[in-house]
Amino acid sequence: MEQYAIKGGIPLVGEVEIGGAKNAALAILAASVMTDETVLIENVPDVRDVKVLLQAMESIGAIVKKVDRHTYKINGSQINNLTIEDDYIKKIRASYYLLGALLGKYKKAAVALPGGCNIGSRPIDQHIKGFKGLGASVKIEHGLIVTSAEELVGNHIYMDVVTVGGTINVMMAAVMAKGQTTIENAAKEPHVVDLANFLNSMGANIKGAGTDVIRIKGVEKLHKTEYAVIPDQIEAGTFMMAAAITKGDVTIKNVIPKHLESITAKLIEIGCEIEESDDAVRVVSSKPLQHTQVKTLPYPGFPTDMQPQISVALALSQGTSIVTESIFENRFKYVDELTRMGADIKVEGNTAIITGVSGYTGASVSAPDLRAGAALVIAGLAAEGITVVDDIKYIERGYEDFHIKLKKLGAQIEKITAEKDFSKFRFQAV
Ligand code: EPZ
Repeated sequence: MEQYAIKGGIPLVGEVEIGGAKNAALAILAASVMTDETVLIENVPDVRDVKVLLQAMESIGAIVKKVDRHTYKINGSQINNLTIEDDYIKKIRASYYLLGALLGKYKKAAVALPGGCNIGSRPIDQHIKGFKGLGASVKIEHGLIVTSAEELVGNHIYMDVVTVGGTINVMMAAVMAKGQTTIENAAKEPHVVDLANFLNSMGANIKGAGTDVIRIKGVEKLHKTEYAVIPDQIEAGTFMMAAAITKGDVTIKNVIPKHLESITAKLIEIGCEIEESDDAVRVVSSKPLQHTQVKTLPYPGFPTDMQPQISVALALSQGTSIVTESIFENRFKYVDELTRMGADIKVEGNTAIITGVSGYTGASVSAPDLRAGAALVIAGLAAEGITVVDDIKYIERGYEDFHIKLKKLGAQIEKITAEKDFSKFRFQAV
């Protein structure tokens, strides 16, 4: 099993390039099969979740051609199967974006019903409500969500909760529906906007993405396009937090600073200096970090996908911080692992009460999920001694070359696979 071995205590210094946004790429790749013409997509991150989605697309007959590490040509004209198997959904929930894409294009699709996952129970009732609102029938049969329609007709759809996946799936189903669809209480995340821009570049007529009311006028069909995925807000935020926690000075390049505002605001509050330019942010951490309050919220609020990383920073900040997780019920699983490194955190329901300590000490810990795994790595970068983070397959779902990028910033981190590698690392690192 692969692990990261980290010798902590070194301030990160230098520049890091952020890749394409995983969560935008997943939606855009799924939507790319909605035309029979060939679509070119650039700035696709080379991460495991993307690879699995591409395999799911190939399994139904889509032609996927890799042009280079970050560029794909997709052609959906040969799709011959409208059922996405359980295996793909088990590996990556976002395969369910193919439900909206295929329903929108072929008026029929079936995808294995996703269960809960490590971060929560994750219902999809709002996706189903949206499809039904467009006139589709939706049934659960033999573990599959089976949806079909004679024709899809635009409608007024009110989302009971703000859902990124629900907004994305319904938007895809509605682009070729007859007439106008209005999605109220829509998610405003950057990747929702990126998908809308992508679909519009294929000939869709979507207005209002990025606000809570999205208006979609159905078009007959979509055509080819060339499109580059936006930079990853969460990868950028993770490096910002790594700079803060290691007392570093890091310029994070190829970002959209506007997408990082909630993270930037919190870093300033806890005592970091931030310089913004058009497509970069520099984080300088030279003073002792201070406590604050954080509540995760849909965009433009503080992202749940950054909650573990900021908690790791707050656990080293002076005073008592309160972190409230309001999106997913199971996102404090890393706390027990962080406690093994010396953190003082008490979780009560959806709130973590964090009493700052003066430092972490290295320990062997396991990544419970993607973002929590990344958070434990940055804790290791600040810890005294050696930390080994297990189960890094989770981290590789969403971070491309994580340890390589950290190494370029001066971190002592290696990917190891066996005790032998570890002894070698320990020998080098001490
Ligand atoms: C997306 O998940 C992201 N995944 C998640 O990123 C992210 O944490 C989440 O949005 C919130 O920002 C992708 O984009 C592929 P939601 P999603 O639907 O779409 C409830 C990562 O680490 N809900 O916005 O599944 C739900 O239970 C991942 O990259 C319903 O009640 O999230 C949650 O409490 C993890 N009914 C809230 O809404 C529904 O039908 C928000 O979930 C749908 C959701």
